[in-house]
Amino acid sequence: MPSFFKVARFSDIAAGAMREVSAGDRKILLANLEGQIFAIDGECLHQGGPLAEGQISGDLVECPWHFWQWNLKTGECAHDPAVKTRCYEVKVEGEDVLVAV
Ligand code: FES
Repeated sequence: MPSFFKVARFSDIAAGAMREVSAGDRKILLANLEGQIFAIDGECLHQGGPLAEGQISGDLVECPWHFWQWNLKTGECAHDPAVKTRCYEVKVEGEDVLVAV
């Protein structure tokens, strides 16, 4: 059963922005897509690149190391949807952003 961790304040993540947070022993990428927060693993599944230092384009984040792209809503790799990174359930309670780990 996952536990929810408070990881950020909603107002700290502007629309179209992202940031890395920690929850338990995990690094998690939070992204604000048109007012909705999504969470995927913060380390790229390829070789561990820091996705928070990449670029958002639509629903995708591009890893800064070798430019693999990950769907922030589904975790799918853009060039091979059979490869998926982990997605996390997100709740927003008032100003608090919580992620289930
Ligand atoms: S580490 Fe992300 S594309 Fe290689």
